[in-house]
Amino acid sequence: MNIAIFGAPGSGKGTQSAKLIDEYGLYHISTGELLRDHIKRGTELGRTADEFISKGQLIPDDLMIRILDDVLDSEAAAKNGVVLDGFPRTIAQAEALEELFRKRGTELHAVIGLEVPEEELVDRMIKRGQETGRADDNIDTIKTRLDVYHSQTMPLRDYYLKENKYIPVNGIGIVDEIFDDIAAGLEQATGVRRRAKKR
Ligand code: AP5
Ligand code: MG
Repeated sequence: MNIAIFGAPGSGKGTQSAKLIDEYGLYHISTGELLRDHIKRGTELGRTADEFISKGQLIPDDLMIRILDDVLDSEAAAKNGVVLDGFPRTIAQAEALEELFRKRGTELHAVIGLEVPEEELVDRMIKRGQETGRADDNIDTIKTRLDVYHSQTMPLRDYYLKENKYIPVNGIGIVDEIFDDIAAGLEQATGVRRRAKKR
């Protein structure tokens, strides 16, 4: 099963991805984390990525698509399927993704859309910025990230609605309860059931 987790900055993509990989044995691909790791290691890609991330802008599509192509080649990604966290973020990326999966004989099965109001997103990111020092969690960059989300990423919601792959989930509330809704939506859309509840 290949899933994308979709939503605005701060909507809980990373938080819910951790639960998805645990529950379904999927491989987590967070393009944001991958780029931040390159920045930390000071690689050439990291230097390029930093110029965009620090301003809240997206990395150019062709570069991002090439990176994803490489990651999908890894053995772990090929095994049970993936959770894409932060990709696709533009229509061009969505179209490229279709081709990347097609040439591997698979497809994107579902897109989980975490829906969270803007005030809550800002509060979460400001708080995380204070707690962890994540460089793009400052008010100016947050505003740009939200603008970029609305103009470049939000159109994907309609794109996947039309493809009948979009599963809207209320992203406000207790993390485990949000995950229950995700699991129920996935079962309905794909027939894949979660493991027996531990709680
Ligand atoms: P990326 O790393 O993807 O960041 P983002 O989309 O801005 O999202 P975040 O990671 O900030 O939030 P999240 O949705 O993962 O939420 P989280 O679980 O952390 O991208 C960063 C940058 O990289 C981009 O701006 C771009 O420059 C570049 N980039 C990445 N992918 C790209 C691509 N495909 N193309 C081009 N450029 C790309 O939760 C947020 C906070 O809220 C946490 O502190 C968490 O603990 C808390 N929280 C989570 N759930 C709840 C809840 N239910 N209640 C209360 N608090 C909660
Ligand atoms: Mg994240």
